[in-house]
Amino acid sequence: MVETSALRPMIARPSGGLTGDIRVPGDKSISHRALMIGAMAVGRTRIEGLLEGEDVLCTAEALRRLGVRVRRLDAATYEVSGVGVGALAQPSAVLDMGNSGTGARLLVGLIATHPLTAHVTGDASLCRRPMMRVIEPLTRMGTRFEAQAGGRLPMLVTGARLPVPIEYRLPVASAQVKSSILLAGLNAPGVTTVIEPEATRDHTELMLAHFGARLHITRDRDGATRIALTGQPELEARRVRVPGDPSSAAFATVAALVVPGSDITIRGVGVNALRIGLCRTLTEMGGDITFDNTREDAGEPVADIRIRASRLRGVEVPAERAPSMIDEYPILAVAAACAEGTTVMHGLAELRVKESDRLTAICDGLRRIGAEVREAGDTLIVDGRGAALAGGGPVATHYDHRIAMAFLVAGLACTGPVRVDDGRAITTSFPGFDALMQNLGADIGTDSEPGAR
Ligand code: S3P
Repeated sequence: MVETSALRPMIARPSGGLTGDIRVPGDKSISHRALMIGAMAVGRTRIEGLLEGEDVLCTAEALRRLGVRVRRLDAATYEVSGVGVGALAQPSAVLDMGNSGTGARLLVGLIATHPLTAHVTGDASLCRRPMMRVIEPLTRMGTRFEAQAGGRLPMLVTGARLPVPIEYRLPVASAQVKSSILLAGLNAPGVTTVIEPEATRDHTELMLAHFGARLHITRDRDGATRIALTGQPELEARRVRVPGDPSSAAFATVAALVVPGSDITIRGVGVNALRIGLCRTLTEMGGDITFDNTREDAGEPVADIRIRASRLRGVEVPAERAPSMIDEYPILAVAAACAEGTTVMHGLAELRVKESDRLTAICDGLRRIGAEVREAGDTLIVDGRGAALAGGGPVATHYDHRIAMAFLVAGLACTGPVRVDDGRAITTSFPGFDALMQNLGADIGTDSEPGAR
């Protein structure tokens, strides 16, 4: 994988006001799902705006190895020739999911109820991440796993010949685990039910409904959501237009808020209520963010977002909001460091098991650029001084795309440059990040003098 090639040190320098009108690449979560659910439909699914990041391309390649034809028709436009529920083939080679936890966990669910054996692996970061959270429920459905110690990749997955539908209450608020079980439930007879005490992104449910699956979603008396999927449906090929990824838009959003004089618009961004916790938080911090022209595509709400530079103040971010902004804490922490006052972010235990231990990476990085930050259990506390930070680095990114992008954005609003040790992972989710930011007037690029101070 890319991970073994030479590092790519990057630098961001203090920049003048950002301006312009941009689009960000397609939503990563929705792109994975469009490919996988398209593969389970009968007929040809056309996907427009697919994210051509490495994570999603790994999913496309894995599906090809499972006998599905996935063709690139044009930039970001793909056609999936679905084989129908239950018709994936014994893979001809290893399924390498690269850096992608979503790709790995969802794909394992998809194959879990197919009568095949697959060897699933990923890069060094993915091989450190917990898979027990999907192994446990999928084992109950009849799937067999031979994993590394502690339930890690690489692993051998032997799909259930006679899948058993289950009712499963999620022990962690994870859309990946929910989706893995629902995708497994596609080829189980009867009804597979997932109960989620805390709502997580519902792209799988929306996409399954878009393709004609029968889902019954109700609220339990304790407030938990109960998602019941009727197995072995006939899914019909559909057209999918993937909205811009709000988790990618987050970087330009915070950049525009913290660089004085900025005024930008990001068009066609997904604004699913279960994804926009960051915009909510930034608005509470005093950020000038407006959603215009809200519309719907393939069941997903989409809007144009206008962001103007604002004086931010510290706020308290409740743990209940974490699932709706779980990938946005690195960039929120940067916004908090530029704000005036203390920002307290609760309920961040899951950040320890993302592409890197993000709690540690955020703290180390912020200290390197002159911010004051503390960890208290799964709470992160950033003391903003309302003045530009000094900058510095290099910030250690641990091959984590969101850590790299967050600290490059920080560099735009510091008094000196910010260096990050390696920006290669950015292409896993946001190909073209530097060019897009440069279009807005940001000074971000490869660091030709990584040793300099
Ligand atoms: C994702 C869910 C989140 C998120 C990840 C994408 C998804 O993970 O961090 O980047 O597409 O379902 P968890 O659901 O495990 O928190």
